[in-house]
Amino acid sequence: MLGAVPQKREKESPHSKRIKVIWLISDIMHQRWLLLAACFWVIFMFMVASKFITLTFKDSEVYGAKQGPLVLTAITEVEKIQVTKEKKREFLGELQTIGRSLSEDLVHQPLIHMERLELLRNVCQDTSLKNLTHTTVSKFVLDRIFVCDKHKILFCQTPKVGNTQWKKVLIALNGVYPSIDEIPQNIVHDHEKNGLPRLSSFSDSEIQNRLKLYFKFFIVRDPFERLISAFKDKFVHNPRFEPWYRHEIAPGIIRKYRKNRIETRGLQFEDFVRYLGDPNHRWLDLQFGDHIIHWVTYVELCAPCEITYSVIGHHETLEKDAPYILKEAGIDHLVSYPTIPPGITAYNKTKVERYFSGVSKRDIRRLYARFEGDFNLFGYQVPTFLLN
Ligand SMILES: *[C@@H]1O[C@H](CO)[C@@H](O)[C@H](O)[C@H]1NC(C)=O
Ligand SMILES: *[C@@H]1O[C@H](CO)[C@@H](O)[C@H](O)[C@H]1NC(C)=O
Repeated sequence: MLGAVPQKREKESPHSKRIKVIWLISDIMHQRWLLLAACFWVIFMFMVASKFITLTFKDSEVYGAKQGPLVLTAITEVEKIQVTKEKKREFLGELQTIGRSLSEDLVHQPLIHMERLELLRNVCQDTSLKNLTHTTVSKFVLDRIFVCDKHKILFCQTPKVGNTQWKKVLIALNGVYPSIDEIPQNIVHDHEKNGLPRLSSFSDSEIQNRLKLYFKFFIVRDPFERLISAFKDKFVHNPRFEPWYRHEIAPGIIRKYRKNRIETRGLQFEDFVRYLGDPNHRWLDLQFGDHIIHWVTYVELCAPCEITYSVIGHHETLEKDAPYILKEAGIDHLVSYPTIPPGITAYNKTKVERYFSGVSKRDIRRLYARFEGDFNLFGYQVPTFLLN
């Protein structure tokens, strides 16, 4: 029985304590300070609880558990949104990077080339430009086109746009030399020995067959920048030492087109422009023979409105166009285009302005009138900064 007393007391004591507290509370309930204290206590407990929940949430996030007590308080809700947003941003960033390279390589490139060919077709049909966009597929044109029978490729040569490299690629493919590096420099342009025949060397039916069935391409660049490049290469530097440009052609142009006959400097760019823009330039062209390939229009070289080319590469985007051409020609697994030094393919407006600064507006407009077909067919902007 001894034990019964404390047992009873133990049972009763919390109850009586509670009653006492309740009494006490109800006694002083009217006092505001206790109300406030109670409120603080509740808030304190709430904060402890939410802290715990936040920690739980973070842990479950780490292990990827989704069934944890995720949304219970305002704090965890904010936390959750922040984490998700951050991850979303990261993910979207990655997705965009992948998407960009995907769209450029797989979607964007073919689109660009389809648009180029569509523009070409439309400009070819424009009757107001007919004289500037059409030509006959003469022996001169067939001489410009090189044949790779092994892989069914035709390449029209347009000087000053990295043609030597393309020739090397095709020579290597034709198999006379095992690789691009083993082709001797003096052989590249020697078509008797380099195993890269001209289309003109075939019979009429062989020519027609190849024009119909083969993959056909050529490369263009801004028409005026190309002329500057030709002028520098043939009349200023002439790295391959071709003396006839300085000793035959330059004096011929100067005699006919230089206004100041007393001046004895070598061929100036303004002399060159005056010759090219002369509607009667053919008179001199005939005397210069095939050397004119460096400055006649792309229309005259490759007959782009008469021959349905598969791809037209742009020198300005050669870094992307070269691999695309190799892929479209089905030879990307066999050969790669030699490395392009950075910065050499970009259009340089400053250079164009500088070269044309000494040329009269009349002569520039005449030059443009002759090359307008090239500008339009290949989507090059009208150089209004030179014409107006
Ligand atoms: C187009 O060329 C033809 C023949 O060469 C010529 O008779 C005609 O005048 C030219 N038209 C234009 C608009 O230049
Ligand atoms: C553009 O051409 C000018 C004049 O020839 C030259 O000074 C400049 O370095 C060139 N700019 C680039 C980006 O190649």
